[in-house]
Amino acid sequence: MKERRLKRLLVCGAAGFIGSHFVKLLRRTRPEIEITVLDKLTYAGNPANLAELEKTAGYRFVRGDIADGEMVDHLAGQVDAIVNFAAETHVDRSLLDPFAFVVTDVLGTGVLAEAARKHGHEVFLLVSTDEVYGDVAEGRSQETDAFRPRSPYSASKAGGELLAWSYQVSHGLPLIVTRGSNNYGPNQFPEKIVPLFITNALDGMELPIYGDGSAVRDYIYVEDHCRGIDAALHRGAPGEAYNLGTGTETSGNEVAAAVVELTGLDGAKVGRVMDRAGHDYRYALDVRKAAEELGWSAEVGFREGMERTVRWYRENESWWRPLRNGEYWDFYKLNYRPAEVQ
Ligand code: NAD
Ligand code: DAU
Repeated sequence: MKERRLKRLLVCGAAGFIGSHFVKLLRRTRPEIEITVLDKLTYAGNPANLAELEKTAGYRFVRGDIADGEMVDHLAGQVDAIVNFAAETHVDRSLLDPFAFVVTDVLGTGVLAEAARKHGHEVFLLVSTDEVYGDVAEGRSQETDAFRPRSPYSASKAGGELLAWSYQVSHGLPLIVTRGSNNYGPNQFPEKIVPLFITNALDGMELPIYGDGSAVRDYIYVEDHCRGIDAALHRGAPGEAYNLGTGTETSGNEVAAAVVELTGLDGAKVGRVMDRAGHDYRYALDVRKAAEELGWSAEVGFREGMERTVRWYRENESWWRPLRNGEYWDFYKLNYRPAEVQ
């Protein structure tokens, strides 16, 4: 497959979980590409994730907001493509504070699309999510399926995507979209199920399962997802979306069981809490298009990925311990309520 040759990239939101793995992957595999990272450093952005790249040639970090048109325009004028990871990303937080999601995930995406159009970029890669398809009762979501987002987070991601697609139609923006499934691995802020359960287990705390724990997700190891984004960026066709997932389904109960086994936590610590409002009970992706057109597929199985992830959290307590601070526990108290009050 023919690859496009990019020289200078603006990668937004790369101080977070997936973006930091993506930038480190690029540095290892495509060191000729100059990278500028733009990140607002919200609670989820962590300079430690990119510390090994500081002061290395061909890399620079700029603190700023993707919704800041002037700053984005300035930086976009210095590169040939944008890859956007920047977003508010936690569904439970979106239920408490939806408008932060609208500003970043919709307006911010629009600002980036406008800058990419204005500067005639070769490609604009938008990192989207399988959540835009909504709850999938049967079958698997294909890239051509309608959007049915059901949370303020997924509605904001869908809104940002639609705005970017409108630029593709109206202005010929060379847009490529990836729709990834649930990522897990090192450096994930301990609010999503996998790192929250692992850090709770290491602290001897209860693992809070929403509802009956039967909701399923397609858990993908973060490095597999990043390879997929790299494949879409270099080999994807403008105007196309690509689902990136493993094609397997794992329930919340199965995630808890894996964490109990791998950390040695007492199984009695698995507890039920009040269900998430509007909980999507199943996401399932058809991932054939990425395999056929990008030559990509996930390689790390759930068991292997969980072993690596638990090992990383055990060995890197100094990374996650400071994140479980006052603001973190304030959110925790608001979000987690006993199941019996349902
Ligand atoms: P994250 O929450 O770990 O990191 C988000 C990053 O974006 C942080 O560094 C934060 O500081 C930055 N950011 C937030 N608002 C910003 C703004 N206005 N301007 C500049 N930077 C800003 O997120 P993640 O889990 O790494 O997800 C990255 C992207 O991948 C998101 O777009 C998300 O929707 C998408 N995605 C995530 C998953 C998943 O399972 N985590 C799956 C599929 C797609
Ligand atoms: O599917 C991709 C999406 O995956 C990304 O777009 C989002 O940014 C990312 O946050 C993630 O969303 P989910 O809502 O699927 O992930 P979360 O880890 O929050 O929840 C996964 C499942 O686990 C879901 O069924 C809810 C359940 N859960 C979650 C938490 C945090 C629990 O049972 N207990 C918990 O404490």
